[in-house]
Amino acid sequence: MKVLVIVAHPNIENSLVNKTWIEELKKHSDITIHDLYAEYPDEQINIENEQKLCEEHDRIIWQFPFYWYSSPPLLKKWQDEVLTHGWAYGQEGNKLHNKELILAVSTGSGQEKYQAGGRNHYSMSELLKPFQATSNLVGTTFLPAFIFNGSYTATADEIQDSAKRYADYILTADTLEKVY
Ligand SMILES: Cc1cc2nc3c(=O)[nH]c(=O)nc-3n(C[C@H](O)[C@H](O)[C@H](O)COP(=O)(O)O)c2cc1C
Repeated sequence: MKVLVIVAHPNIENSLVNKTWIEELKKHSDITIHDLYAEYPDEQINIENEQKLCEEHDRIIWQFPFYWYSSPPLLKKWQDEVLTHGWAYGQEGNKLHNKELILAVSTGSGQEKYQAGGRNHYSMSELLKPFQATSNLVGTTFLPAFIFNGSYTATADEIQDSAKRYADYILTADTLEKVY
């Protein structure tokens, strides 16, 4: 299983969670880490390069901090430009078919805020639906997201622990559990 982690964090130097996650992932040789903001400081995405990377991997992770209930803009730009007709969708667009997609998302607010009646009103599953719809359209299997809520109040130990659970999850998540 070849795992590609596409990271979109516009301010990784000041990151606590995503930076810790990346450091943990670097210990695993079967994970390719691809940092979009580092790769494209001018935000000019090399589409061919991105498509090739995706084709070479079985499981794709989109890792990002939750910004305004969505991803930072470079990941959206990546979707707009890389998921092309004839490659990702359309009659001949089958290059991502049967691959798996996992979201890895950190949030500032705690989990209790992401529910009906909570401060943010909606659950993470509800708010992440556009990503799931995109996954459906391009034919990837959408596996449960790895979510770390509550970075504003998290301790260093909790963040470190989440990094280990994250690495373990993306290496071992099993599509079969969806069958039962
Ligand atoms: C522009 C911006 C928008 C944000 N929007 C949200 C949000 O909608 N919901 C939320 O829970 N946290 C929000 N946050 C907090 C970030 O999600 C949080 O700081 C980040 O996940 C922590 O990860 P890091 O330590 O890797 O930066 C926002 C932060 C910024 C800078």
